[in-house]
This record gives sequence, C-alpha cells and structure tokens, in this order.
Amino acid sequence: MDSLDPARPLLFQPLEIRGLTLKNRLVVPPMVHYRAGPGSTCDTFHIVHLGRFALGGFGLVFVEATAVEEIGLINEHDLGIWNDAQVQSFKPLIAFMKSEKTAIGIQLAHGGRKSSSQRAIDGMGPLTPQEIAAGARMWQPVGPTSEPVAKGWLTPRQLTTEECKAMVRTWGAAARRAVDAGFDAIEIHTAHGYLLASFLSPVSNTRNDRYGGDREGRMRLPLEIAEAVRREMPQTMPLFVRVSAVDGAQDGWNLDDTVVFARELKARGVDVIDCSSGGISGSATAAQVPRGLGFQVPFAERVRKEVGIPTMAVGIILEARQAEAILQNKQADLIAVGRQAQFNPNIAQHWAHDLGINQKFEDWPPEFGWWLEKRIRTIEGFATPTGIVRRGE
Ligand SMILES: Cc1cc2nc3c(=O)[nH]c(=O)nc-3n(C[C@H](O)[C@H](O)[C@H](O)COP(=O)(O)O)c2cc1C
Repeated sequence: MDSLDPARPLLFQPLEIRGLTLKNRLVVPPMVHYRAGPGSTCDTFHIVHLGRFALGGFGLVFVEATAVEEIGLINEHDLGIWNDAQVQSFKPLIAFMKSEKTAIGIQLAHGGRKSSSQRAIDGMGPLTPQEIAAGARMWQPVGPTSEPVAKGWLTPRQLTTEECKAMVRTWGAAARRAVDAGFDAIEIHTAHGYLLASFLSPVSNTRNDRYGGDREGRMRLPLEIAEAVRREMPQTMPLFVRVSAVDGAQDGWNLDDTVVFARELKARGVDVIDCSSGGISGSATAAQVPRGLGFQVPFAERVRKEVGIPTMAVGIILEARQAEAILQNKQADLIAVGRQAQFNPNIAQHWAHDLGINQKFEDWPPEFGWWLEKRIRTIEGFATPTGIVRRGE
C-alpha cells in the first residue's frame, strides 16, 4: 500500500492493488443501462455515461455486467465480450478513462436462469407475452438445474457436467478479451442470482454431480472460473469478485459460506471481494435483505477481518462522512457509489470538498477547475435567496 498523507482523508488517498494504483478509493460499481450498440457492443452512450464519472473524480469505474457468451445476456440490450468486434468497441472508452487518470474495470457476467429477462425499468422480471409479441428477444437460458427462478420465469436447460467444464473455458476466453481490450481490472459477477450465484446457493443448486451437493461442490464452478480468469490476467492486474454475501432466503447461502468462499478466492489470486447481497429468487432488487444506510457494510467488514482480504463496500452509501468512516473503521478498503453517482456524476469531487480538501478545485480536470476557482472567487459571499455562497459547499 502507498505511504499515506495524513493531511488527506483516507477516501482520497491512493490505493495500490497489485500493479494498479488508484488515485482514490471511490468506485462506480457495475450498473446495466440497456444501451448497448449493435451486436452487444460498447457505443457512444457508454463513453459519455462512464466518462462523466472520470471527469467527476472517481478512482475506478466498472463497466456494467457484460456477458461472457450470448445466451448469458441478462437482457438483449446488455453488453457482451465474446467476440473481437466487442473487444474493439471498448477501446475508445478505455482510452478516454485512462487519459483522465481514472482506472476502468469490467464486470464479467452470465445471466444463467435470469438470462432473457426484462430491463429493470420494465420490472426486472420474466419477459411478458406482450413484450415477446412486440419483438423482445427470447431464448432458453441455462442454469444449474432445469427449475425456473420462480413461477412465470423461463424454464432453463440444465448444464451438463461437460458443459460446466466448457463454461470455465468460456469465462477464461472472456477474461483474455478483457485483457486484450486494455481494461485495468476485472470483476467476476457471482452475485444476485445470476449463473454463478445460482451454482453457489443451495436454493438453486440441487445437482448431484461434482458441481453440486455440499458447499465445496457448489463452489467448484465459480472457483474454477476464478482460476481460469486469473490465469489469463497479467500478474499486475487486479481481480475483483462480487458476491451476494447472503441470499437473504431461508436455508440459503449465508455469511459463513461467504467467508469460506472468500478464503478460497483469495487462495486463487483474487484481490478484492465486492460485498453485495440478495437476488437468488426473483429480481436482483428483490428486497429479501432489509435495506438501510450502508446495510451491506457489515458483510464487507466481516470478510475483510476474517479472511484478511481487501473488500469493497456498496449499497446506500450516501455521504462523504459516511464513506470516510467506513474506511477509518477498517470495515472496507474501497467504497462503491451507485445511484448517488447516477444522481450526481461529480459526487467524488463534491465529497472531496465535503471532507475539506480540493478547496481550490485542484483535483478537478484543469479545464473545469480553473474556471470553478475563478467562479467561487467572484461569487463567494454573495447573498442568494437560500443564503450566503461559501467555498466548498
Ligand atoms: C441502474 C443499476 C444497474 C445495476 N446493474 C448492476 C450490474 O450490472 N451488476 C451488478 O453487480 N450490480 C448492478 N447493480 C447494483 C449496483 O452495482 C449497486 O450494488 C447497487 O445499486 C447498490 O448501491 P447504491 O445504493 O450505491 O446504488 C445495478 C444497480 C443499478 C441502480
């Protein structure tokens, strides 16, 4: 880890993970937006959308859940990384992020039983007959079993043992493509009920071959995939794994299971555990885990303490002081900010002001910062209908 500058809050200290140095500890987590270009490629939308977070001061930004194979698309409008055209399509985005000194990662994903489902804005459930009649693309998903996620969802085809082995190669190939594209980091999506989460959880994995049964069997496919992905990555490149730390379902995957899983991931060269939760049955947002301020932070804390691996906290982290306290209390090493960043893409810059640094806009892109400093010098002390203008507010 870099030597720390005591004058700066932890949130804005650099963090070194393998060969990657993040300029601060604020991360944009993966967030699907259903705006892929033709052929599941990265298009102008993603450059503009994710580019705002680079200009807004984040240390690391993740590209949304990106399918490792076509039938693993959660929705037809998601991104993919199973062919060379897709690899090429990410390059302008990656070049822009790097030019702004923001690291760029990609979340590799497979929808499993939840592939070919609705966009969040349409309900995040199974496609309706009306949507299919209107032309929504539908295909048969795959999963650990042929049981659907819940009533009304598509009936998946159960992967054979041989197909599970092939799945490991599919993820390895996607990781190789992510490396070729020039990403700084990779995250494996093992959360929210998608393919790898559905192998981990006893709720959905009722197989009796080597990829099912007890916890060791259920962890086998995600762990073999972690090994395959790590093998394709340079030694210097960090590997994150996003977990659903708890299913929130009765007799489901729980935090003890996550601690064991994280230990195994660490042994395979995983660098950061990104602690999310839920989603095993129903939509990814099904509120099986009660929501509250920083409700998933205790998951990140326990994994960090018991496994001795860096963690990323995510979920309803709303303010700079809240985020800084999580780091100061050693509950996590990185802070991911999802919807607050959608709400205000400059939030990393604003949080620096809130914590008393960057008062002269020195960390803003200079073309903005110079003008913002000139602006505040002009308007500081002005009385507006809501009060007196002050620097840093
Ligand atoms: C628009 C949107 C899309 C999301 N897409 C993904 C995704 O692609 N992969 C994933 O693991 N989580 C996804 N999530 C979950 C977020 O990464 C994050 O964990 C969640 O929003 C909680 O953090 P927040 O309270 O800061 O928003 C998504 C959330 C939102 C709001």
